[in-house]
Amino acid sequence: MTTWLVTGGAGYIGAHVVRELIQQGITPIVLDNFSAGLRTRIPDNVTIIEAEISDRLAVEKALRDFDVTGVVHLAAKKAAGDSVEIPLYYYTENVTGLIALLEAMQSVGVKNFLYSSSAAVYGTPTANPITESEPLLPDSPYGQTKVIGEWLAKDMQVSSGMNWVALRYFNVAGAAHDSLGDNSVNNLIPMVFRALGNGERPKIFGDDYPTPDGTCIRDYIHVEDLAAAHGAAVRLCEEGRANLAINVGRGEGVSVAEVMAMVGEVLGKDINPEIVGRRAGDPPASFADVGLSAEKLQWSAQHDLRSMVSSAWSAWHKVIN
Ligand SMILES: NC(=O)c1ccc[n+]([C@@H]2O[C@H](COP(=O)([O-])OP(=O)(O)OC[C@H]3O[C@@H](n4cnc5c(N)ncnc54)[C@H](O)[C@@H]3O)[C@@H](O)[C@H]2O)c1
Repeated sequence: MTTWLVTGGAGYIGAHVVRELIQQGITPIVLDNFSAGLRTRIPDNVTIIEAEISDRLAVEKALRDFDVTGVVHLAAKKAAGDSVEIPLYYYTENVTGLIALLEAMQSVGVKNFLYSSSAAVYGTPTANPITESEPLLPDSPYGQTKVIGEWLAKDMQVSSGMNWVALRYFNVAGAAHDSLGDNSVNNLIPMVFRALGNGERPKIFGDDYPTPDGTCIRDYIHVEDLAAAHGAAVRLCEEGRANLAINVGRGEGVSVAEVMAMVGEVLGKDINPEIVGRRAGDPPASFADVGLSAEKLQWSAQHDLRSMVSSAWSAWHKVIN
């Protein structure tokens, strides 16, 4: 049985990854500073280390004390819009923090690294579905930090034989359990629930995009499917078949208007969205080519949009609000 450190394991996605590792027979150790994470998301028998990823001594101690063989690195700041306003903070958290983590891994000799990347690395793609060979031209400092993270992983492979996989997540939604819902302020589905809870109309940012219904198209992936992709990627690292970036999506574009309609169906009411102006930096469409994930991870998404919206809603109204 191996032990992996999960940075950001108290976060929305990290908590699902922790459960997936347990199912795979791997012992997870959570390292989190609880800036956004919740203790209630972590199973009782999992060891928690409250620390910053930039606290190299604390990370080294955790890697040594628990004989860790690999790191799933999710801890990061993730709001693309905020990153435009406060880029240096994003670079410090997501890049300087990652360098400290990699230094700790190097000094202890931990060679397996699974990195949370993002579809934000592509910015506005030249074509859809997006393959992994699409140029990396992020629209935000957040996306840049994810590209730099991938460079660092690649460079560590050359310099010290690190096995790495970067998973480029598309739009993550849903919950495997009501206690594990997404409470963030920037993802579409929680934004809709929050607006409805406040008695407001949920906003659609732009209906004049060059898409069939004029609203932006994204690739929504259930967080439980995403967690399963991590299980497969951990195996790639452990078997030394790693060193690549892989899209993780469903390979199906869904428009913002379609998501709103599904929320209405699940809630059984007309949610009456309001059309407002476009937001800067939103590409018209972004959805994944999933050929590489099928080939390398032997994985594909199982949940559909209804499952994402209904599980998100269940978590939202029972636990989050
Ligand atoms: N949610 C999405 O749709 C999405 C899409 C693409 C990529 N990602 C990436 O996935 C990862 C996880 O995202 P999430 O949605 O679970 O976010 P989240 O905010 O719920 O989780 C991040 C976790 O990291 C912790 N953390 C943050 N900074 C830290 C630090 N310096 N030291 C220690 N812990 C720290 C937070 O407390 C939190 O528990 C991030 O790297 C994010 O960029 C998320």
